[in-house]
Amino acid sequence: MLYPITRMRRYRTSEAMRRLTSDIELLPNDLVLPLFLDENLPEDGLHAREVNSMPGVFVHNISSALMIAENAVQKKIPAVILFGIPRQKDEIGSTGDVEPAIVPKFATLLKKRFGKSLLVIADLCLCEYTSHGHCGILTSHGDVDNDLTLQRLANFAKVYAQAGIDVIAPSGMMDGMVAAIRSALDKNEFQNVSILSYSVKYASAFYGPFRDAAQSAPSFGDRKGYQMPYTRSWEAVREAELDIQEGADFLMVKPALPYLDVIKDLKNHFSYPIFAYQVSGEYAMIQHGDRLQLFDGSAVMLESLFAIKRAGATAIITYAALDIF
Ligand code: PBG
Repeated sequence: MLYPITRMRRYRTSEAMRRLTSDIELLPNDLVLPLFLDENLPEDGLHAREVNSMPGVFVHNISSALMIAENAVQKKIPAVILFGIPRQKDEIGSTGDVEPAIVPKFATLLKKRFGKSLLVIADLCLCEYTSHGHCGILTSHGDVDNDLTLQRLANFAKVYAQAGIDVIAPSGMMDGMVAAIRSALDKNEFQNVSILSYSVKYASAFYGPFRDAAQSAPSFGDRKGYQMPYTRSWEAVREAELDIQEGADFLMVKPALPYLDVIKDLKNHFSYPIFAYQVSGEYAMIQHGDRLQLFDGSAVMLESLFAIKRAGATAIITYAALDIF
């Protein structure tokens, strides 16, 4: 033997040894549960509808969503993120930020019921509320008008904060969205409301099942004019930097598993909490793989979530949040 063999396997000799030498943990504290609220479901009693493409994920009416939130609180999950499906949509998404839009209405109930033991995050984007399904107001050429859209986001943020929402999460990739929201919040004395920016959001085919759930697929074209191309590596840090300058409190990378390098980049560059969004397509692949008995879905889910944490995520938004603990 020319040199001694380094015995790495000594670290793996027993379950106890493997546990002792592990430094990545996954806790309920790390997870955020997405909740879909559908205005089209009957208001009385419990009503929920399973999303075809996402086995195990439901859209809820208010009573049903409250029950799920209760479950999250019991499991010590610190936060939910809300998405709304309105009864009506129009060109400018005006049904999202008027009384009695379902997201602010539900948020007020959540705060009344759970107070500070549950953080209420609200996704903020026009695509669920516009008839054309784009993330902003359209110009006559069919492009999204960035600055007109900012005015709408500012008003949404104000309405959301008035309803008691703790964290506003703009997801539309408009330039200046964080600044517009921060200034609307501060002007209205909501200095304590935080902003979780979807800073680094790729134009991803992994969002397919979400668009099925939220009925928010664009009716023409795609989102490549505002979401990021995955063919560039220089852009992520720059996007995050801009959000920080504009006043974001938390950064997000989305999707998660195919973009672990980006999570790590942000982790290395900034002293900010980094959220990773394990998106609908990531979740759906695991669920369908499990159903087809290609693999053990629970094990694949855990492995994915650990990988996302190992890359540097502070918290993970996942549709599996209630299934892990
Ligand atoms: C709204 C929004 C989307 C998702 C989160 N917020 C859809 C999109 O950008 O098309 C996707 C989440 C998921 O796929 O789980 N803009």
